[in-house]
Amino acid sequence: MKPNKNSQASVAPAEKSTHFGYTEITEDKKTSMVRDVFSSVASHYDLMNDLMSVGIHRLWKMDLIRAINPVIGCNIVDVGGGTGDISLGVLKKQQCRVTVCDINEKMVYAGRDRAINKGVLNVPEWICGDAAALPFPECYADVYVTAFCLRNVTRLADVLLEARRILKPGGHFLCLEFSKVNLRPLDGLYDLYSFQVLPFLGQIVAGDRAAYQYLVESIRKFPNQETFSEMIVKAGLNEVSYRNLSGGIAAIHSAWRL
Ligand SMILES: C[S@@+](CC[C@H](N)C(=O)[O-])C[C@H]1O[C@@H](n2cnc3c(N)ncnc32)[C@H](O)[C@@H]1O
Repeated sequence: MKPNKNSQASVAPAEKSTHFGYTEITEDKKTSMVRDVFSSVASHYDLMNDLMSVGIHRLWKMDLIRAINPVIGCNIVDVGGGTGDISLGVLKKQQCRVTVCDINEKMVYAGRDRAINKGVLNVPEWICGDAAALPFPECYADVYVTAFCLRNVTRLADVLLEARRILKPGGHFLCLEFSKVNLRPLDGLYDLYSFQVLPFLGQIVAGDRAAYQYLVESIRKFPNQETFSEMIVKAGLNEVSYRNLSGGIAAIHSAWRL
């Protein structure tokens, strides 16, 4: 699995294609390829996040948790919640029912073990599930929150429909994701850092250059702030807005199910 900007892996015309970073693949392969990436990085995931972002991801996540503004007893689903940063942050602020739902059991185990090792008793529920077919009934959640997951899914439009399905009327959709940098010369520096430094760090720390090359490429393939907003509206969510973080390196999108 070595992503390459120019590669056009065999896609027969009748099969639906998608991208895995810069590599074109058939849709049926993407979920398992993404699963392999996160299985490979799970044990180094938290350390790598701190190293790659020099800790800035923690500030972005605090912003997201503030935007959730959890009220006592509310039902929050953290989709692609991985090792649980968002869920654990919410539970520090408020007593709610929080569920981490992630497709990768290694990420979920890594998060659960980290919480236990830290002696965190107020834990979320940890379950495995696909953002495209969530194991929750209709109108289940007060808040659907997701951080750095949606750029990995196979059919983003379907995942957004699924978000709307599980939200209660009046429920809040929040997504923190890498986005399009809108500040010069930050964009050039960011490109240089992303393509030269991050895969190298991935090689040295996690022993997996390809996984971090995919990370960088998947960020570039994700729709920009405006296009993503339009997709959220198309999925039937309302009052869409977004806020750029660090010059657009990341953005928080917010919307409501009316
Ligand atoms: C970059 S990590 C983010 C983890 C966590 N939200 C955070 O911010 O630290 C992306 C997570 O999305 C999960 N993921 C990818 N595709 C998914 C899908 N289709 N359904 C649910 N989770 C998915 C991965 O397993 C991984 O744990």
